[in-house]
Amino acid sequence: MNNSVDTVSRDAWATRAGFILAAVGSAVGLGNIWRFPFQVGQEGGAAFLLIYLLFVAAIGFPAMLVEFVIGRYTNRNPVGALAQLGRGLWGYVGWVFIATGFIILSYYSVVAGWTIRYTIIGLQDGYLADGAAAESQFLDVASGLDAIFFHAVFMAVVIAIVALGIKRGIELAVKLLVPAIIVISLGMALYAFTLAGASDAYSYYLSPDFGVIASNWTSILPAAAGQAFFTLSLGMGAMITYASYLEEDRNLAEDGAIIVGFDTAIAFVTGLIVFPILFTAGVDPADPGPGAIFVSLAAAFGDLTLGWLIGAVFFATVAIAALSSAISLLEVVVSYLIDEHDIDRVTATLAIGGGLFVLGLPSAWDLVLLDLFDGFADQILLVLGGLLLALFVGWKIPDLAVGELKKGIGPIDSWGTLWVWLIRVPVVIVLVISLALGILGY
Ligand code: PFF
Ligand code: NA
Repeated sequence: MNNSVDTVSRDAWATRAGFILAAVGSAVGLGNIWRFPFQVGQEGGAAFLLIYLLFVAAIGFPAMLVEFVIGRYTNRNPVGALAQLGRGLWGYVGWVFIATGFIILSYYSVVAGWTIRYTIIGLQDGYLADGAAAESQFLDVASGLDAIFFHAVFMAVVIAIVALGIKRGIELAVKLLVPAIIVISLGMALYAFTLAGASDAYSYYLSPDFGVIASNWTSILPAAAGQAFFTLSLGMGAMITYASYLEEDRNLAEDGAIIVGFDTAIAFVTGLIVFPILFTAGVDPADPGPGAIFVSLAAAFGDLTLGWLIGAVFFATVAIAALSSAISLLEVVVSYLIDEHDIDRVTATLAIGGGLFVLGLPSAWDLVLLDLFDGFADQILLVLGGLLLALFVGWKIPDLAVGELKKGIGPIDSWGTLWVWLIRVPVVIVLVISLALGILGY
């Protein structure tokens, strides 16, 4: 027990595995299975993968430890944590997180709704092999009342789990969901390996063309930075919030490495599933946009033997992964209301969840709006939140942060110094450049 005296009966994780699984559950989601492949496709294949992997290790991992340290030290939600630690304007940085979380979850739930719908389509009628037919089917799924209905269904499940609280709701849910995601992904990658298009897909996905990096770096850098933050659930306080429910002083660096490793592995394996399927069906992976991955995968499933079943399993897995991520997004805002305004969990969850449903309506109604929300939140807000936090921790409270990181690790003097300097300079530089390019490109 550290400094949780002032927050009388605050929730906490029951087990170490509970925290790690919840953080893995938050990290692994639509970002890995939907967003990652379409970013790879849009940004030139293996070249993007390479930069992305670099950013995850050199920027994402240290940035995750920043959030962990702040959460565990304060035992508070992001707004409260920053208000406690920061003077002047720094004390308000938590609000950037809350705003970002709100926007992301609103459209995240819409996309998750599509995955539920696509699961049902597979089980009911199978998928349509014809490209044009698959496209018009997607437009039905992703707009108007159909999309709104499944957005509502998804939000209702998220609300129910978060309302149950940390131990009974979130921790229990992720213990079932995360192992399911891992097993199904590996099974599907093995299956994809047997497809005719596999070897072309592997060379597209795995052997980088450095010319592509040289000519497209102004779009690859912000896309890779945004994707690294999005996929690791950084830049909006989710990891602050989850670490705030830690009571014992455990090795945060080790936990962080496990979480980053899992998330990266699932994204990587998703590429090994998606690209062979696309290449086998003769679909060009460079087709940009948030819908293309659905259209082309559905068409590919329509083409494969037993494609309805494989497709339904695939989309159900995506829905499950989205669920454990959406839970963490909602928890950020709910924890703020509980901590700072003494609102009870159920009321807070219903109010915020209802608000999110409404905010998601434009994205559900029209795909163009969804793409705008996604680009704005991902390449601008997340990166901005991460940048502000890196500046604050690296330059304003470095000693406090290293001291907190040391707990549960023991003496880490040189590592702690390395970590602080990583945050102070390289992380800040990359994020500033990415943010500038992201704003220019938006
Ligand atoms: N990391 C999640 C994914 O990859 O799908 C998305 C996400 C969850 C982003 C929670 C941010 C967050 F706070
Ligand atoms: Na992720």
